Order: sequence, then C-alpha cells, then structure tokens
Amino acid sequence: MLPQEIIRKKRDRRELTDEEIAFFVNGVTDGSIADCQIGAFTMAVLLNGFSEAETTALTLKMRNSGSVLQWPELDAPVVDKHSSGGVGDKVSLMLAPMLAAAGVYVPMISGRGLGHTGGTLDKFDSIPGYQTQPDNDLFRATVKEVGCAVIGQTGSLAPADKKIYAVRDVCATVESIPLITASILSKKLAAGLDCLIMDLKFGNGAFMNNLEDGRALARSIVKVANRTGTKTQALLTDMNQVLGTAAGNAVEMQEAVDYLKGQPADPRLHEVTMRLAARLLTISGQFSAETDALKRLERDLASGKALETFARMIAKLGGPADFTDHPAKYLPQAPVIRPVFPHDAGYVESMNTRNIGLSIIGLKGGRTTPGQTIDYSTGYTGFCQIGDYVDSQTPLAFVHAANQEDFARAAAELQNNVTVSDRKPQSAPVIAETVE
Ligand code: URA
Repeated sequence: MLPQEIIRKKRDRRELTDEEIAFFVNGVTDGSIADCQIGAFTMAVLLNGFSEAETTALTLKMRNSGSVLQWPELDAPVVDKHSSGGVGDKVSLMLAPMLAAAGVYVPMISGRGLGHTGGTLDKFDSIPGYQTQPDNDLFRATVKEVGCAVIGQTGSLAPADKKIYAVRDVCATVESIPLITASILSKKLAAGLDCLIMDLKFGNGAFMNNLEDGRALARSIVKVANRTGTKTQALLTDMNQVLGTAAGNAVEMQEAVDYLKGQPADPRLHEVTMRLAARLLTISGQFSAETDALKRLERDLASGKALETFARMIAKLGGPADFTDHPAKYLPQAPVIRPVFPHDAGYVESMNTRNIGLSIIGLKGGRTTPGQTIDYSTGYTGFCQIGDYVDSQTPLAFVHAANQEDFARAAAELQNNVTVSDRKPQSAPVIAETVE
C-alpha cells in the first residue's frame, strides 16, 4: 500500500477500507507518513467526507495507536464527560467530584485551552502543587481511592491524534465533523470508559456556530462512540454567552469551589452541570431514573460530600490539603481588579463570546504559542448574563489584570463585545436538545 494512493482514493471520493485507514494511522504513528501527506489526507476528508464506517475505523485505529487503559480493579461504571469547548466552561471541575460522590469512577483526561476556549487543565494548574501529569500509578490510585482524577493527556494516549491534530491546526482542516469525531473520541475511548456524555456547545463562543452544525457533530460522536461499545449521549448547550460568572483560570477554580460549597450558583451553569451529571449517572445504570440521580446530586452538594471528594482529589494529586477551606490563600490574585461599566445603561442583549474568550488570551490567561507560560490570575468575575440590567453602578464584569494597561485594553474590549439595549431580551434555554 502507498500513502499517496490512499489520499488519491479519498480525493476521488471513494470509500476507504479498514485496512487502508489502519495503514495510514500506523504510518502517522511510526513517522513513515510525512506531515504533507497528513495535510493532504485531512483536506481530502474535509472536502469529500467520511462514511460512518470510515469514521469508526479512523477513531478505533487512532485510539489503538497508543495504550488503552483498562480498569479491572474498579467495581462501578467508569464514566466521563467531554465538552467541545467554551468560555467560562468550568463544568468539569464540579462534575468530576459530583459523579465520584454518587458512586461512579471518573478518570478525566483533559486538555489545555484551544483557540478562544479555556482548558480544564490550565484551571487545575492554578492550584499550587497539583500534578496534572502524575505517573500512571498515582493516577490509578487516585481514581480508585477518591473516585475521580482530572489530569492531562500523556504521550502514550492516542499519539496519532497528537500528530494529526497538530497538522490540522496549521492546514485549515480542523472544522471537519469526521476528523473532530475521531480526534475527540480516540482520546476519550483510550481512557477505557464504559459511558460518556458529550457537552456539545453551539453558538458564537463555540467551535460550532449554530445549532444545526452542533447537532451534526453530536450525532456523529454519539453514533461512532456507541458503535465502539461506549454508551454515549450528548446535550447540545448554548454558548452564546459566558457560562457562569467567571472566565479565566484561578477565577473559574474559585467559582467551582463556591459552587461545591453550596453558594448561590449561576442558574445556567447549575442546570448544565446537573443535567450532564444526571444523564451520565442514568446511562451508566447507576440510577434507573434521571430524577433519582438529580436528587442524589443535590443531596451530595448539600451535605458537602461532593466538596469533600474534590478536596481529597486535590490533596492526593499534590495540592494543599486545606485548599477548599481557603482557596483564596492559594489561588494567584491579579494585582488589578476593577469593575467595567457599560457606555449606556440598559439590558444585556447579546455578547460576542468568542472575542471575550480571546480577550482572556490578551490578559495572558491563554497562549499565543504552544507551551507558553500563562498568568493564571487573570480573567473576569461577576460577568453579566443576557437579560441583566447594567448601568453606571452595575458593571458588565470585573476585570482581573496584571497591570493598568492590560486592564484598560480588556475594559475596552468588554464594552465593545457586550451589546446593551432598551428592551429586556429573552435568554435562550441553556440546553437545546439531547442526542441519544
Ligand atoms: N477537540 C479535539 O480534541 N479535537 C478536535 O478536533 C477538536 C476539538
């Protein structure tokens, strides 16, 4: 077999066999296929599409390109949630310990910020001492003893995705539904999951701008994951506004701790978190009805069990033992924290969520080059929601910045990216649809 013949076949809109896809992925993994061939292959897939069978084969070959975890020592379902990426999306921080408190196991392998979206891993890196890259023994021991461990991807999990992703990033081939499906699922399935829930975001702060594209990606992921034997469903959730009230790294960690302590939560954030968790607990068979799962999640939040699970996970992975008692003592604080008011009083009508995500990179809370060191302390708190009234006394948000210059730039960006009107708009429901 020759790589160029496989590329040619897809270029000519013909269906590839399992063997051809396996040959290509093996060549990517062992380095015998060049980056230019990966670029041409992914462009052919983007332009001409992949059948469900081809997407499933690509996913499985990419999953098998590295180690695939197994959990014979665990006595309850192994589950996870994956978000397609958003702004202010700290759901994983609360959801992992809530699920573990409810009796399932969550080996959560997370990523860093991508484009304008924040990354779960960067949020955990804001906790001093917390190891996002523990060795395999510590990772497994944490999952077994605590019930959850949120860590970063190791080099041994789905290495083919790492290479293909890096080429797609610079060859304009990210926005392909089969390629996104295989990329996300190869990593998730390598973690040895029984069940998965996808938080598929759509809107101006998501990679899928509209509901229709979000639905197509959700259906592709759900179909392929179920074909591979991992029970999977997806919720399509609205990302036309910042989720919750904080956006950044340490500031989102603080919001997550407050949530787990039972402090009044942003209703949209609460709804997404509870519904994703309850759905997962139901599809895993841990609860027979979603209403029972919801009651259990509420109970574990009220009793502090979910908070205690979070605290134990942090301590076991090297963070401070009393982190959840005094998060402000440990999380970095920006030197400049100031409110930003709208030019005109009125109701928040819309926001350009993508630009708000990008402005966090401008505050050095995200990267412009791979591996760059970031400032965990920066971002926004008290972020307004669509329908809120704002005026010269009620801010759009508080900016957390490293200096006055960064503050001034972020303040102007905030004012430009939030639209205020005289009439109170209807806020869209945060959950649009479920894909089963
Ligand atoms: N996230 C991934 O892991 N892969 C993609 O292709 C897109 C988003």
